[in-house]
Amino acid sequence: MCHAVFSFAVNSDSPDLKQTASPYVFEATALKKDFDDGQVQALRGVDFKIADGEFLAIVGPSGSGKTTLLQILGALDRPSTGTLKYKGQSLLDLPDPASYRAHEIGFVFQAFHLLPTFTAVENVEIPMFEDHTSRVERKARAIELLRSVELEQRVNHFPAKLSGGERQRVAIARSLANSPSVLLADEPTGNLDSASAKHVLDLLTSLHRDRRMTLILVTHDMSVAGRASRALQMRDGRVVFDGDPATISGHN
Ligand SMILES: Nc1ncnc2c1ncn2[C@@H]1O[C@H](COP(=O)(O)OP(=O)(O)O)[C@@H](O)[C@H]1O
Ligand SMILES: [Mg+2]
Repeated sequence: MCHAVFSFAVNSDSPDLKQTASPYVFEATALKKDFDDGQVQALRGVDFKIADGEFLAIVGPSGSGKTTLLQILGALDRPSTGTLKYKGQSLLDLPDPASYRAHEIGFVFQAFHLLPTFTAVENVEIPMFEDHTSRVERKARAIELLRSVELEQRVNHFPAKLSGGERQRVAIARSLANSPSVLLADEPTGNLDSASAKHVLDLLTSLHRDRRMTLILVTHDMSVAGRASRALQMRDGRVVFDGDPATISGHN
């Protein structure tokens, strides 16, 4: 697994950096996020710790701040105030956020975001381009990833020729291209029929278990959240519940 972002810590003899090793993959303190000069307060002070290897669901109604929070964890956006650590180091002061996104984090979105003029295997190869892997190696790895999501029969298909569930499985294979530590999935089953949704959820659950990845899954479906070992429930930019998804009260 590549940890290019933190290679300075690995190569350093500094005892201080070694002491920052943390059992938590994320530690957030008083995270706030405003939009439109403070007219919208998407996050109003959020605190949590997420252990390495956890499967966490983030639930809550539309507009409660779930996507905003996920984007901040993925360094696609920055909080207005507050602190956020990734494996003990400030995520808000990364020397190279693009490298963090490419190597530490896999993203899965509700709308798949596949490139329509690329085949399934080419879509999975895209995140590998940065790393100067040879063409042959790239393709072999992409085919292996498609096999792991049970799509070895669809390698040369274009997205338009795939079902919704198959497209999401290509997107999951792509998210794994650089062996990330963390998978961030934003309503990954939101556009799928119930059979495809179950297949995608089974897949994410087994990836989490077999690869020991941290899985953070946003959903407003409580049956989906029930797959996780822990849930954060959000309302109006705040965490109103943090615990066993089976004991959440209220609707989403
Ligand atoms: N880029 C943006 N500009 C302005 N307001 C935004 C932006 N992104 C999100 N918001 C607002 O922030 C709040 C939280 O949005 P979001 O995080 O997308 O919620 P959720 O994913 O729970 O539906 C909403 O009121 C939304 O309209
Ligand atoms: Mg959202």
